[in-house]
Amino acid sequence: MNRKTVLVTGATGFIGRLLTQALCAEDLQVRCLVRKAGTSLTNCETVQGDLLEPATLPGAMSGVDTAYYLVHAMAGGQEGFERRDRDAAENFVRAAEKAAVRRVIYLGGLGETGDDLSEHLKSRLEVADILRSGTFSTTFLRAAIIIGAGGASFEMVKALVERLPVMITPRWVTTLCQPIAVEDVISYLVGCMKDERTTGGTFDIGGPDVITYKEMMERFGRIRGRHLYILPVPVLTPRLSSYWVGFITPVAPSVSMPLIEGLKNEVICREHAIRELIPLALTSYDDAVRRSLDAENS
Ligand SMILES: NC(=O)c1ccc[n+]([C@@H]2O[C@H](COP(=O)([O-])OP(=O)(O)OC[C@H]3O[C@@H](n4cnc5c(N)ncnc54)[C@H](OP(=O)(O)O)[C@@H]3O)[C@@H](O)[C@H]2O)c1
Repeated sequence: MNRKTVLVTGATGFIGRLLTQALCAEDLQVRCLVRKAGTSLTNCETVQGDLLEPATLPGAMSGVDTAYYLVHAMAGGQEGFERRDRDAAENFVRAAEKAAVRRVIYLGGLGETGDDLSEHLKSRLEVADILRSGTFSTTFLRAAIIIGAGGASFEMVKALVERLPVMITPRWVTTLCQPIAVEDVISYLVGCMKDERTTGGTFDIGGPDVITYKEMMERFGRIRGRHLYILPVPVLTPRLSSYWVGFITPVAPSVSMPLIEGLKNEVICREHAIRELIPLALTSYDDAVRRSLDAENS
């Protein structure tokens, strides 16, 4: 595999930045697609391009063997993020096919179609379908909340725990989810590229803890030395709560609102095939939180 070009799209994002560092450490030829001119990412080639402007893509795709798809349009505004994500994925497919890209690895969300899925989770699944329609092979990794400094969901939980000792919440706090440490996500993303058995597969990835959002916040609070009072009430809808959460968290409402709507959907791994293919000593939720807080303070 060495010295074949690996393209990272979404390289300036939460996952993209960490993945780029990890790939560079593997002695691979790494190229990053960036939207803003002058963006520099340590030790790798950057090519300016925007997936919503197809004419900017051929240079980024040229000579690429494997491309990571980590693009997410939500930060650009809540209005029409689904359409932007659809258009971006379609433009990516056309450009990758033209350049004869062999493999694509996409990190999207857990959640089952037909499960009254939120707009955000539906859109993540739609992107997977668009990528899978390409002539290249797509590996689809599905994750719930990723625990790591700078991640939108993690920063929301942190802000709620640190700013609100008493919380009146909708019933979604009792929904189950399976958080995963960002370091484990990066290991899976790199591992998939190295292991051809993952080519074309869809894999659920999650940490060792299956817990409710309430427990996630309570455990976070304990690690921070705070006791939380969380009172779920039936009348508060996810949409209504997304407004007050918007005031509390530093995360832009365009990102926080679709994420909060998604909290009504259970997001746990339904299959575990990845554990056989890429065995990892998975990080517990508590350790992932501690590591993330340390990373933020260092
Ligand atoms: N964070 C989580 O907890 C979590 C959980 C489960 C799954 N995931 C999945 O992981 C993937 C990456 O998420 P993330 O949290 O790293 O997202 P993120 O921090 O919001 O990063 C999104 C990236 O997409 C880029 N982008 C947006 N529109 C683009 C366009 N038109 N052309 C080119 N690049 C564009 C952004 O570039 P700019 O810097 O120029 O805006 C940025 O680099 C997503 O598919 C997401 O569903 C994340």
